[in-house]
Order: sequence, then structure tokens, then C-alpha cells
Amino acid sequence: MEDVLVRRAAQLLGSARRVVVFTGAGISAESGVPTFRDDLTGLWARFDAARLATAEAFHADPDLVWGWYEWRRARVSRAQPNPGHLAIAAIGSRAVDSTVITQNVDDLHERAGTRGAIHLHGSLFTPRCVAAAGHPATFEDPSDGPAAQPDEGRRIPPPRCASCAALVRPGVVWFGEALPETALTGAVEAATACDVLLAVGTSGVVYPAAEIPRIAARSGATVIQVNPQPTPLDTVAAINLRGPAAEILPALVAAAWEETDG
Ligand code: APR
Repeated sequence: MEDVLVRRAAQLLGSARRVVVFTGAGISAESGVPTFRDDLTGLWARFDAARLATAEAFHADPDLVWGWYEWRRARVSRAQPNPGHLAIAAIGSRAVDSTVITQNVDDLHERAGTRGAIHLHGSLFTPRCVAAAGHPATFEDPSDGPAAQPDEGRRIPPPRCASCAALVRPGVVWFGEALPETALTGAVEAATACDVLLAVGTSGVVYPAAEIPRIAARSGATVIQVNPQPTPLDTVAAINLRGPAAEILPALVAAAWEETDG
């Protein structure tokens, strides 16, 4: 990793008034949570999104879909935040004003100490019923879920809503569904107002989330990308830091506030 680039990025980060950290699946890769599009290991290289991550798929086979999300929830529950998540939490306590916007449905930012992260694609931990009211639901039996270590193909009947007996669905945003309005509005506002946006571990191809770094750049902010691979955000970013997040972010954060602490 070019030190010059890290130092320049650190200077910008350390002197920024408003910082946005925009994350994708890559931030959780080093915690053992698979990304979506990485060759071979990515979830979409192994599973058919159309059969698992759409409302139609859920209605066609709720047990298959619920089972698959319980498997993902079990994996996330076994995972631990990595130094990348911890560095982002540290930005939260050092920057004057910072917002974490994530596409991830895991809770690793929160477990690392980040408060108020905006989840654009929902969460594995906020199930709700399929009725229009979308009553929040709880997982039926604590031993049925992460503790039960469901395997990836296991069919598990979804629970029923305690209020209206409708099926309970995972609290994630499926392909073809709108993003939660409050989350999207909050993300656009933060991106418009920030001085620096760190884009970490995202392929930048899924919209409307992928618009967030572009909104920041159009509003005059400096975009810094952290990713071992090139992405369409390379041209949006002023600085591209090529490498794994758990390695680059701690160094970047240490340098950023070393710079300002003098
Ligand atoms: N550190 C940083 N970046 C990494 C690391 C790492 N250790 N490992 C992989 N990456 C990068 C990859 O190079 C890739 O660019 O993370 C990115 C992951 O991209 P995707 O798998 O496409 O994940 P993401 O961008 O979050 O996907 C967006 O698509 O499937 C939907 O709803 C799902 O939220 C998801 C959305």
C-alpha cells in the first residue's frame, strides 16, 4: 500500500468536519461473512438470488428462504467484528460528526461500538410479518436459530406473527423492493453534507445504494475508496487504497488522528 496515499487520505480524514463511512460486504469478509459477488466464495456464486432473495421466492417457498436466512443469521452470530469494524467505530468517537451507512444486514458495526448506523438493506435481526402493517417479530425459540446452527440448505418454516398470524419474513430488503424511506433519506442527507466519504468493501453496482458515494462527490466531498479490487467507484474516488479493510482502516485512522494530535 502506497504510504503517500494513506498519508494523504489520513490528512483529509483527520481534518474533515463531517465524515461518512459507506460500507459493503467487504468490511465483513475478514470476519468470515461471505461477500455477494466475489468469485467462488460470494453468495451469489453459490446460491440463486432469484430463488432466495425476492418476495416472489419467499411466497413460492417460505421454508427454503427462511431456512437460508437463518443459516446466514447463524453465521453472522458466530462471527466477530474485525479491526476494520473497530477502526470505523473509532472514527465515530474521533470525528466531529460522522455517519456510518451500510448495505450490510449483519450487526458487526453495532457489535464493534458504532452507534446509529444506517442500514439501507435492512437487517437479519429485525424480522417482521408480511402483512401491510409489518408487525415487528421476534425469533421463535432462541435455540432455534443461531444456536441450532442450521445448515445452508435446511428448510425451516417461518414463524407466524403474534399479532395477525401472517408469515414472518426476514427484515432485509430483497431485490425489487424499495429501500426503507427513512434510511435512504438519512443517507442522502449525510452524503450531501459530508466533507469526506470513505467507501469500504463495496462493488458499487447495486442501486440506489451505489448512488451514495456519487452524491457525496457531486456535493463536493472527497471520496476515498478502500477495496483490494478495482470497482466502478475508482473514478468517483479521489484516492483508491487497494487492500483489505482490516489492514488499511486501522492504519488510516491511526495516521489521521496522529496528524491532528501532533
Ligand atoms: N476488504 C475490503 N473490501 C473487500 C474485502 C476486504 N477484505 N474483501 C472483498 N472486498 C470487496 C470486493 O472486492 C468487492 O468489491 O468487497 C466488495 C464486495 O462486493 P459485493 O459482494 O458486491 O457486496 P456489496 O457491494 O455489499 O453488495 C451490495 O448487493 O447482493 C446485494 O443486498 C446485497 O447489500 C448487498 C448489495
